Amino acid sequence: MERKIITTSDGSTTIQIVDWNEQYHSIHGAIQEAYHVFIKKGLSLYKDRAMAILEIGFGTGLNALITYIEAQNFNLKIDYTGVEAYPVSPEEIKQLNYIAQLEAQKFQEEFDKMHTSEWEKSIAISSTFSLLKQQKDFMQITDKAAYDLIYFDAFGARVQPELWTEEIFKIMYAALNNNGVLVTYAAKGSVRRAMLAVGFEVERLDGPPGKREMLRATKK
Ligand SMILES: C[S@@+](CC[C@H](N)C(=O)[O-])C[C@H]1O[C@@H](n2cnc3c(N)ncnc32)[C@H](O)[C@@H]1O
Repeated sequence: MERKIITTSDGSTTIQIVDWNEQYHSIHGAIQEAYHVFIKKGLSLYKDRAMAILEIGFGTGLNALITYIEAQNFNLKIDYTGVEAYPVSPEEIKQLNYIAQLEAQKFQEEFDKMHTSEWEKSIAISSTFSLLKQQKDFMQITDKAAYDLIYFDAFGARVQPELWTEEIFKIMYAALNNNGVLVTYAAKGSVRRAMLAVGFEVERLDGPPGKREMLRATKK
């Protein structure tokens, strides 16, 4: 499938899957969306503690990068697991402008390490942040009560409806600790109902630029 690097409304780049007319991030601002959905509505619930995060779709590593940057502000020690079936190529990674847009040149080395580090192995990106990249399908996740926070960042239900079902949210529910939280940019009624059906409590929150709402699900 043809892939293109495009620039979104806030100046940050993303990858477009041309045949699907689908992007890795919102065209209204990749960085703005990632900060709103995953940091503001997810990570910022936690501070001064150790925690484990699971990312559904490691992709460009943007969420791992901003989590790494913000972990220092929230005084968090993070074990980060990114699951990804189709890793982004090094050539594409080089064309993304996240470090420049975030004015995060001092984290260039860590961002490079996130991408060059071996898969299937927990790697220390710093003394307070470890990264485990796993190349597999989301359906193969078998972790039980292992994570405090899930970044659910799959492609939209329009192109991958099979990833927004009760079956997948059952896997997510099992993977979370009690009081664990899942955040996603999606707001569709069918997604919310699938989350409720597997036992989550679900909140509708204000969405990132260009989207009225998003969802946050908690395992009580
Ligand atoms: C919307 S993109 C977001 C990626 C990433 N969070 C980012 O910020 O770049 C969704 C990601 O899920 C991956 N993916 C799609 N279907 C998958 C599946 N069934 N199992 C594992 N990964 C999948 C894609 O390759 C892509 O990297």
